[in-house]
Amino acid sequence: MKNFVLTVTLNPAVDEIFKVKKHRTAPGWILGEQRSCAGGKGINVARALTRLGTPVVATGLLGGITGQFIVEELRREKIKNDFVSCCDPTRTNVTILDVSRNTMNRLMEDGAPLCRPDLEKFKKKFKALLKKSSWVVLSGRIPGGTAETIYRDLLHLARRENVKTFLDSHGRAFSLGLQAKPLFIKPNSEETQHLLRQRLNSLEKLKKAIRYFLRRDIPYVFVTLGAKGALASDGRGLWLARPPQIKCVNAVGCGDAFIAGFIAAFEKPKDFLAAFRLAVAAGTANALGLQPGAIHKNIVHKIAQQVKIEALKF
Ligand SMILES: Nc1ncnc2c1ncn2[C@@H]1O[C@H](COP(=O)(O)OP(=O)(O)OP(=O)(O)O)[C@@H](O)[C@H]1O
Ligand SMILES: [Mg+2]
Repeated sequence: MKNFVLTVTLNPAVDEIFKVKKHRTAPGWILGEQRSCAGGKGINVARALTRLGTPVVATGLLGGITGQFIVEELRREKIKNDFVSCCDPTRTNVTILDVSRNTMNRLMEDGAPLCRPDLEKFKKKFKALLKKSSWVVLSGRIPGGTAETIYRDLLHLARRENVKTFLDSHGRAFSLGLQAKPLFIKPNSEETQHLLRQRLNSLEKLKKAIRYFLRRDIPYVFVTLGAKGALASDGRGLWLARPPQIKCVNAVGCGDAFIAGFIAAFEKPKDFLAAFRLAVAAGTANALGLQPGAIHKNIVHKIAQQVKIEALKF
């Protein structure tokens, strides 16, 4: 029986989030609210799915004291997980939200390359978990020095098990992953620009980008546009969804919550637009809080009623 969503985080991180404001009279900043939590894109998706009540298992590789911290946090948050332990310690990412200037900065560690024995151990675990998964979400940056074909290889394994696949990454690991034709992809506009090596500064150019992915036999394509919403296509139509305006606290993880919102509502192709609406609402709900993926189901449904979806000429 296939009964849960599997999220893969090859490069998890302890997320250290600091809210700071500029000191008025002296150089430097005053530290406000701060939070340490389990992070990494797949973990954020798993958190958002758990919050939406969709069964999920988070997997990937964890090591060292930072890895132990993540397992403890996941247990505390009741996020089901089944990670493989690896020899190198899990990285730490720092997010600095400057409330006086309304800016966000991130310091991101690359993460240690996955060594062959750890990778083999992970693949074994992944294959076993796939047998019980209805979906697999592959997301986030891969650790530096790891084979860039990794997402492509994992997608091939998933397709053999008849699992719905969602790929959200960037750079070469993403473009190689496209060769395995994931069912769903969700680059944001910058990632799409980077991949196509051109500025996508008009709706026409964004439409062209979506057609580029569809031509490569990706059945469902989303391009997310931050506060402006998202574009979606199922190969037959093209839609633009606009979220309501909100006061953004932390935009990190909006894309992860978007994926969770979509998966929570999508079973069959006829659910596509309703699931797209929930995805945009979940992304927006994510921006209201400090911790990536920590959305509230009732707020997501309230925002969903305010999302405006428009069919575009295609
Ligand atoms: N400032 C915002 N106001 C309202 N909604 C937002 C805002 N930022 C993001 N969203 C919502 O979240 C969705 C995904 O956002 P975005 O394009 O920023 O994803 P992303 O860049 O992949 O994020 P990440 O990789 O950090 O998870 C958008 O389609 C939108 O619905
Ligand atoms: Mg993203």
